[in-house]
Amino acid sequence: MIPLAQPVLGEPEERAVVEVLRSGQLSLGPRVAEFERAFAARLGARHASAVSSGTAALHLGLRAVGVSEGDEVVTSPFSFVASANTILYEGARPAFADIDPVTLNLDPDAAAAAITGRTRALLPVHIFGYPADVPALERHGLPIVEDACEALGAVHADGTRVGGRGHPAAFGFYANKQLTTGEGGILTMGSAEHKERVDSERNQGRAPDMGWLDHDRLGFNYRLTDLACALGLAQLERLDGMLADRARVAGWYREALAGGELQLPCEDAGGDVRGWFVFVVQVPRDRDRVIGRLRERGVSSKPYLPAIHLMSFYRERFGHREGEFPVCEDVAARSLALPFFPAMTEGQVAQVAEALLTAL
Ligand SMILES: Cc1ncc(COP(=O)(O)O)c(C=O)c1O
Repeated sequence: MIPLAQPVLGEPEERAVVEVLRSGQLSLGPRVAEFERAFAARLGARHASAVSSGTAALHLGLRAVGVSEGDEVVTSPFSFVASANTILYEGARPAFADIDPVTLNLDPDAAAAAITGRTRALLPVHIFGYPADVPALERHGLPIVEDACEALGAVHADGTRVGGRGHPAAFGFYANKQLTTGEGGILTMGSAEHKERVDSERNQGRAPDMGWLDHDRLGFNYRLTDLACALGLAQLERLDGMLADRARVAGWYREALAGGELQLPCEDAGGDVRGWFVFVVQVPRDRDRVIGRLRERGVSSKPYLPAIHLMSFYRERFGHREGEFPVCEDVAARSLALPFFPAMTEGQVAQVAEALLTAL
């Protein structure tokens, strides 16, 4: 079976983790700050705080810009559920706006129309690694928290790296991501005040200059271990190679699938550069039947992503119904993630493409 994803792990990762094991300092040690500095430098961000997941990074990012009870946060319904869930963690409401049919990111005009007097922040998602139009959203002058969990390696048209514009931006390091620490995440940001707050809140609200006994605010245990940060540092060393490998695999897919009825991931346009994460196509019809056919041929695939507003929890809680965000719903009904990972061979891509075209 060709898997959907497969991390690149080897001797450098092994060495890095063993070194931490031998040091005896498994958490709250030196690797955390080292990883943060290296990650921030790579993106051109002033600060970074390593946390236990992309979800934790989003949550602390929303708190940092002051999202709280009764607020609204304008965001995309075409995302992994965590981007909307973290808004609910703070008692705020996700105000969904429809997506652009080409980039699949928040449509700036729809986002503008969703802004009300209660809007506290905007939460664009760089879906499938393609840069969201953050420059257009910046014109509203509202705080922005970026969900960059799928977008490591992406670059905006003006040359800034996704996560390097100064807004709190969340990255995730689950095993299918461009860089993995098993589980983990990081928040990049431009504000030293935000960094101070996030560092405290990830560690139970402990102030930096206080002993264990005093905590001056509410916090969480969102810490990332030194083991994970060491793994992250080793992965960062080989990130350029892994991103190039993903881009090469995407190129093979484009060639093998061109000219048919499939809608392929949009090409980089206007200077924006995708950080390749997944290869998602939109099939014209019968997506779920296609998944079954592919499975019979030894190819993993999955519907990716379902629309958040139509998930049962969101329907029940907010009364969402079909038809509210037609572009998102159409894309969500037809999108299919194919096997995609750096070590994928041209032969495997050809096998997937042949199975998919036959299934259609
Ligand atoms: C768009 C998006 N947002 C948020 C997350 C949450 O990241 P994590 O699973 O690390 O909490 C993910 C990861 O799957 C994601 O793809």
